[in-house]
Amino acid sequence: MASNLAPIPELYVSYESAQKLKVEAGNLVSHDLTPRQICDLELLMNGGFNPLKGFLTEEDYDSVVETMRTKDGALWPMPVTLDVSEKFAETVELGQDIALRDQEGVILATMTVTDKWEPNKSREAEKVFGADDSAHPAVNYLHNHAGKIYLGGPVTGIQQPVHYDFRARRDTPNELRAYFRKMGWRKIVAFQTRNPLHRAHQELTFRAAKEAQANLLIHPVVGMTKPGDVDHFTRVRCYEAVLDKYPSSTTHLSLLNLAMRMGGPREALWHAIIRKNHGLTHFIVGRDHAGPGKNSQGEDFYGPYDAQELVRQHQEEVGIEMVDFKHMVYVQEKAQYYPIDEVPEGSTVLNISGTELRRRLAEGIEIPDWFSFPEVVKELRRTKPPRAKQGFTVFFTGFSGSGKSTIANALMVKLMEMGGRPVTLLDGDIVRKNLSSELGFSKEHRDLNIRRIGYVASEITKNGGIAICAPIAPYAATRRAVREDIENFGAFIEVHVATSIEECERRDRKGLYKLAREGKIKEFTGISDPYDVPESPELRVETEGTDVDNCAHQVILKLEQMGLIAG
Ligand code: PPS
Repeated sequence: MASNLAPIPELYVSYESAQKLKVEAGNLVSHDLTPRQICDLELLMNGGFNPLKGFLTEEDYDSVVETMRTKDGALWPMPVTLDVSEKFAETVELGQDIALRDQEGVILATMTVTDKWEPNKSREAEKVFGADDSAHPAVNYLHNHAGKIYLGGPVTGIQQPVHYDFRARRDTPNELRAYFRKMGWRKIVAFQTRNPLHRAHQELTFRAAKEAQANLLIHPVVGMTKPGDVDHFTRVRCYEAVLDKYPSSTTHLSLLNLAMRMGGPREALWHAIIRKNHGLTHFIVGRDHAGPGKNSQGEDFYGPYDAQELVRQHQEEVGIEMVDFKHMVYVQEKAQYYPIDEVPEGSTVLNISGTELRRRLAEGIEIPDWFSFPEVVKELRRTKPPRAKQGFTVFFTGFSGSGKSTIANALMVKLMEMGGRPVTLLDGDIVRKNLSSELGFSKEHRDLNIRRIGYVASEITKNGGIAICAPIAPYAATRRAVREDIENFGAFIEVHVATSIEECERRDRKGLYKLAREGKIKEFTGISDPYDVPESPELRVETEGTDVDNCAHQVILKLEQMGLIAG
């Protein structure tokens, strides 16, 4: 049997042992895994992350961060770590077994904790992702979502995470290896993607299969991809819609529950190792593989072909051959796609970037046949109607008494007059009465209050409504987190009501500033508590010298400019 097709070691115990272990693990301290950790655990357990046997220990972590190798020298470019809160870490002793549960409380595995440490996250960001810049999604995750402490140690697998969607399309490495054996496939080239397949991708995959004289595995990631990507449900429907454009005897579609980090070169190498583990012999790496977009200076984090370079250096050691591709573009005269460096001289090159595609979808503009398949476009339009039909959130922030509520009310009435979408006002006072009545004004409570508002607004946005929020929301990090939640579903428009603290105090409509000055109200924003002024809100309104009607109208104009309300 070819080595790529022999079974690969998994971390699962037998069915009988798993039943026993599950009962015993019920008494262990347990950690509720985050969505990203569930993805990592699944690939650890099923051999997708071979040779790892658990979450990285401190020594392995240091070595992976610095040298892309575990301390034993195995090539492994991406830290796979179990981050937890300080509070949880305090409950765990070294040598102790803990239960790892999914979000419904099902025990998936146990882990023997051999290591517990506080990582230097800035170093991890610099070394692994190339910059300690929160514009990078993984760096943002590291600093703003991941717990402060890492736990490491071997994992004993009890059961796979349960997936209720597209079950027949998901394969473990061993299931894929068995499939290839059954089909008699020896050479198989994998195509990794986090996007719907358009004609350029089809051409690229056809060419790669031809070049390598191999069968083709379309192997899209359905775990976690870049925030803002097309959701995997839609994408899988798109893949299924174009599958019949491929010869079925040489092409297979399988879904990979990987949590991507968008780590460019290191990530490409990681993907190659994961594909090797899934029994693949060849792996396509295109332009800007697993690219995270622009950094906070507006520049690319990585060069467009850095990923190919790194995979090229290590492909022999990994045992998988890279099929590299330049950016594919459409040549009008030839009515065909070409790699950009093979375009016949003097011909007309057409290209629609990801951003342009999103714009066309958002504005309901035609997407030409040379670019995509009508079936794919139809699916995308079903999920993402034009912006003027999508939900969105207007999030006012500013001092108490700045005029947020009054402008928010005026905006609500104006939007209701227009009609078409339900409008909900989540005013500070209303929320404090109905959602957050037990909360005070400590940082912790304010954050909780804003996260609740964000949650409700994201649900409204997801369901096509308009949410207008008007809390003080003094902390930039919390506003950013809410933005991230909402932007998964629709636009987020931050409006800074920039009334100065002096003016708010002068107005003092509720008499609260006076009480705050007298020390009778503690932690009062702007007086005895901080307010992070928004650095780049979608809109800043000045209320001093401008009436409410005009402020609300400025918001309407902004919404119009963003395509959120149309004639
Ligand atoms: S926060 O920080 O976003 O959770 O605040 P928010 O929910 O918007 O609530 C602010 C309203 O509560 C009143 N109030 C205070 N504000 C600030 N600091 C302190 N300590 C405080 N105590 C009570 C105040 O009237 C705010 O109402 P608005 O509508 O903003 O004037």
